[in-house]
Amino acid sequence: MSRRDCNLLLKILFIVALSLQISIVRSKRDLKEQCKTCKDIVDAFYKGMEKTIKANFGGGNTAWEERALGSYAKSETRLVEIMEGLCESSASQCHSMVEENEETIENWWFKHQTEEKDLKTWFCINSIKVCCNNGTYGPECKECPSGKDKPCNGKGDCDGSGTRGGTGKCDCNSGYDGDECDECDDDYFEEKDEENKLKCTACHESCSKGCNGSTPKDCTECKTGWEKSEEDGCKDVDECKDADKCGEGEYCVNTPGSFDCEACHESCEGNCTSSGAKGCIACKTGYNMTEDEGCKDYDECAADTSNSLCDSGTYCRNTPGSHQCAACHHTCESCIGEGDSSCTKCSDGYKMEDNKCKDIDECAAENSPCTKENEVCENSDGSFTCECQDGYRRKGDKCVKDADSNENEEEEDEEEGDEESGSSASGEEESEKDEASPPEDAAPKNSEQESHEHEEL
Ligand SMILES: *[C@@H]1O[C@H](CO)[C@@H](O)[C@H](O)[C@H]1NC(C)=O
Ligand SMILES: *[C@@H]1O[C@H](CO)[C@@H](O)[C@H](O)[C@H]1NC(C)=O
Ligand SMILES: *[C@@H]1O[C@H](CO)[C@@H](O)[C@H](O)[C@H]1NC(C)=O
Ligand SMILES: *[C@@H]1O[C@H](CO)[C@@H](O)[C@H](O)[C@H]1NC(C)=O
Repeated sequence: MSRRDCNLLLKILFIVALSLQISIVRSKRDLKEQCKTCKDIVDAFYKGMEKTIKANFGGGNTAWEERALGSYAKSETRLVEIMEGLCESSASQCHSMVEENEETIENWWFKHQTEEKDLKTWFCINSIKVCCNNGTYGPECKECPSGKDKPCNGKGDCDGSGTRGGTGKCDCNSGYDGDECDECDDDYFEEKDEENKLKCTACHESCSKGCNGSTPKDCTECKTGWEKSEEDGCKDVDECKDADKCGEGEYCVNTPGSFDCEACHESCEGNCTSSGAKGCIACKTGYNMTEDEGCKDYDECAADTSNSLCDSGTYCRNTPGSHQCAACHHTCESCIGEGDSSCTKCSDGYKMEDNKCKDIDECAAENSPCTKENEVCENSDGSFTCECQDGYRRKGDKCVKDADSNENEEEEDEEEGDEESGSSASGEEESEKDEASPPEDAAPKNSEQESHEHEEL
C-alpha cells in the first residue's frame, strides 16, 4: 500500500469514527425523545378507545361497554379506527414507531389487553424498551441516586428518569447540593421537615459563610456592608454617615448592605442632603430658598413690573430657573402675553376692537386707497393690494387693456359654442324621454339661449 493510499485510509477512518461519535451523542438525546413519543402514542391510543365508544355507542362503564359493544370491543375494525389517530400528520418519529411496532400493538389488542391494562408499561417499557419505570434511567434502567422511589431525595430531578436515556445525575432544587441532593448549598442551613428529612432554608441576606438559622443573629459571619452587633447580630452599616461617599451634586441613599448615589434636584447649587428641591443646601440662580419647599422657582416675569426684561414685540415667559422673551401675536405691536387678546398696541393694519386687534378693511374706506384708473382694491390680513380689474394688466404703474387675454377669450367662446350645440342635441334626447315636455318645445329654447350668448359677444 502506498503512502498516499494509507493517508486516504486514515482520513476515511477518522471520518467514520467522527460520525459514529456524533450518532452516539444524537442517539443519547433521541432516547429521551423516543420515550416521550411512545408515551404520546399510548395517550393517543387511550383517547382513540374512548372516541370509538362514544362515536358508536354513546359511552358507559367497562362492564357495560363489553356487553354493549359485544364483538366490536376487541374487533379489528375498532383497532384500525384507533390506529388511524395515533400520530399527528407531521410527527415522523411517531409514524415510524407505530409502523415498526404495529404487530406488537396488535398482539396486545388481541391477546393481552385484559390482563395487562397498563399499555405504557407493557408497550413502552417491557416490549419495545424505549422507556424505564419512574426513578430509573438509561439503557438498563438503573436506579436514580437515592433510589427509584424518591430519586435525588425528592429535592431534584434525576436526568433521564423514566427513559432509556440520560445520565442519572441529580439536578438539585435551589438550596440543595450533593450527588443525591442531600446537602445544603452555601448560604442555606439544615433543618428537618415533618418527615424528619433534610430541609434547606436560606440564611439572612446579611450572612456570610453560612448560618444556623434564618435571622441576622444566626450568621457565621457578616457580609461586607453589615457589622456584627451584640443585640441584633449582623446589622446594616449606614455608609451615608461618611460624608464623602458620593460626588459633587449627588446625595447618598443607604440600602441593605450597600448604598446608592443619586443626582441632586436641578434647583440645587452644589451638594444636597436628600431628594427633591427640599434637599438642596443652596439654590441655583433663578431659585429662592424657602422654608416649606426648598428651592423654589423665582418668577422673573412677575417681578419685572416695569416690563424691562423683554424687548417690544415680545413678552416675558417664566421657565424653571429662568425666563424667555417670546414673540407677540402678529396682530400685536406690543403685548403682555400669548395670543391675539394680549395686545397692548396693534400692529399697522389692525385696530383694537373687543380687546383684540382686528384687521382693518382698507378697501371699505370712503376714499379707496387705489386711485389709479381701472384699479380695484383687494383687502388682505393687515394690509391691502391694488389690482388691475378684469381684462386689464399692469404695465409700469398703469393698468392697460389686456389684448392677449381678449384674443384668448374669443377662442374660448368659439369652443363654448361648439359644446353648447352638442349639449343641445343631448338635451333633445333627454326631453324625448320626458313625455311631459315635447321635444319641439325644448329645441327652440336651447337655440334661443345660444343666440343670446352670441349677442352678448
Ligand atoms: C411517573 O412519573 C410521571 C411524571 O412525573 C407521572 O405522571 C406518573 O404517574 C408516574 N408513574 C408512576 C407509575 O408512578
Ligand atoms: C449557632 O452556631 C453558633 C456557633 O456557630 C452557636 O454559638 C449557636 O449557639 C448556634 N445557635 C443555635 C440556635 O444552634
Ligand atoms: C460636595 O460634596 C463633595 C463630596 O462629598 C465634596 O468634595 C465637595 O467639596 C462638596 N461641595 C460643596 C460645595 O460643598
Ligand atoms: C430670588 O432669586 C432671584 C434670582 O436668583 C434674586 O434676584 C432675588 O433677589 C431672590 N429673592 C430673594 C428674596 O432672595
